[in-house]
Amino acid sequence: QQYDFGMIGLGVMGRNLLLNMADHGFAVAGYNRDPSKVTSLKEEAQGLQVYGTSDLKDFISKLKRPRALMLLVTAGPAVDMVIKDLLPLLEPGDLVIDGGNSYFADTERRAEELTPKGIHFIGVGVSGGESGARFGPSMMPGGSKAAYDVVRPIFESIAAKVNNEPCVTYLGPGAAGHYVKMVHNGIEYGLMQLISEAYDILKRGLGLSNDELHEVFKTWNEGELKSFLIEITAQIFLQNDDKTSGRLVDSILDSAKQKGTGKWTSQCGMDLGVPLSIIDIAVTMRYVSALKKERVTAAKVLPGSTPKFNFNGDKQAIINQVRDALYFATIAAYAQGMTLLKVASDTYKYELHLGEVAKIWRGGCIIRATLLENIRVAYHKNAQLPSLMVDPDLSALLLQRQESIRRIISHSVQAGIPVPGLSAALAYFDAYRTDRLPSNLIQAQRDNFGAHTYERIDTEGIFHTHWN
Ligand code: 6PG
Repeated sequence: QQYDFGMIGLGVMGRNLLLNMADHGFAVAGYNRDPSKVTSLKEEAQGLQVYGTSDLKDFISKLKRPRALMLLVTAGPAVDMVIKDLLPLLEPGDLVIDGGNSYFADTERRAEELTPKGIHFIGVGVSGGESGARFGPSMMPGGSKAAYDVVRPIFESIAAKVNNEPCVTYLGPGAAGHYVKMVHNGIEYGLMQLISEAYDILKRGLGLSNDELHEVFKTWNEGELKSFLIEITAQIFLQNDDKTSGRLVDSILDSAKQKGTGKWTSQCGMDLGVPLSIIDIAVTMRYVSALKKERVTAAKVLPGSTPKFNFNGDKQAIINQVRDALYFATIAAYAQGMTLLKVASDTYKYELHLGEVAKIWRGGCIIRATLLENIRVAYHKNAQLPSLMVDPDLSALLLQRQESIRRIISHSVQAGIPVPGLSAALAYFDAYRTDRLPSNLIQAQRDNFGAHTYERIDTEGIFHTHWN
């Protein structure tokens, strides 16, 4: 038998995507060097048209020609190694898809290396974790449109659906798909940081128990904040710990790891001159969290105010303000990420339609949220929006909540609870809406000490002054 699609790398993502394809009636083959991974695939694939092997030649020979195969291996050198092994076995016209979290410049380079050999190469961001891969991910393909069209029916049938529309669409040439996935992850870092700050405020500032935290997040997930990350956060507070009689969340070390996609997003923002302060601070806070030992020492050396909110009256009113502050900052985080996509699209000629990006993020992916429908509509109305923050509907949502985020940040600062993500969101909003920033002084200083010149507000041209 010949198979429609092949998967190289049968870790949980590769295996689940393959099973998802098989569920949708496609005959699929999987390859992994490690035979135990092949065995697990076969065990889970009972009754489905799934072939598994640890023999690369055998795997390639089982695929219908022209072949379509996806790599789901660890991003980085492993991708190049697999491509090197594959090349002698492939023929012109075959399609290689990289479904990992590859760095976009690597995708660009790989496409350039493979195209002259007649091999099509497309980079696809796949989001949704284990269960997304198994039951419906969001997929972000970029590269050759003609090559994408070959696998489009498979992708559209396995992707998550929102209003019966698949959460996958061709995004643009080159590494557009992997770039969009990187920014997805940058936004993911920002949102996770913001949610963790809300948790800190509710837990240490207001003294909420895990059961109360569950209730608060569950309620939030029924309103405007409805999203995958809020939903799992609500669930997390209920998980019991097997080792203690308490809740698991309280036994987890407060040191957050990362695989690099958030950092890449920040670096790309710096490269293109796009402010991404919420994402930057989210990456920074993962580093701060990693300094566990130093923090434990510093906690004794640098005592501060007690992390209890000082307020009179209604706890629920404060909880609602935290909700509004989180929503405000969430809008700002999406605004920063989407603006990076806009600038990157202009720079790298990705021809991105930001409304389409928002559309395929509405389901399946980690940052799926009802807010993405508002974002889709905003770009549908005006594809050239310089920032989501000035869209008439989204700006109204921000303005209604600015008082809340100011209050919550003030309370947190007083109580010594770090809220760098919320603060970055508000400062970005305040800076963006300031028609005259103090940067005139920076220009004066630059010209004063280094003759770096300045422009004037009243006359065109470049000026330099011999400062007294
Ligand atoms: C997804 C996720 C996924 C990513 C994790 C972990 O879209 O399904 O973004 O691709 O690997 O979020 O990322 P970190 O280990 O860097 O936190």
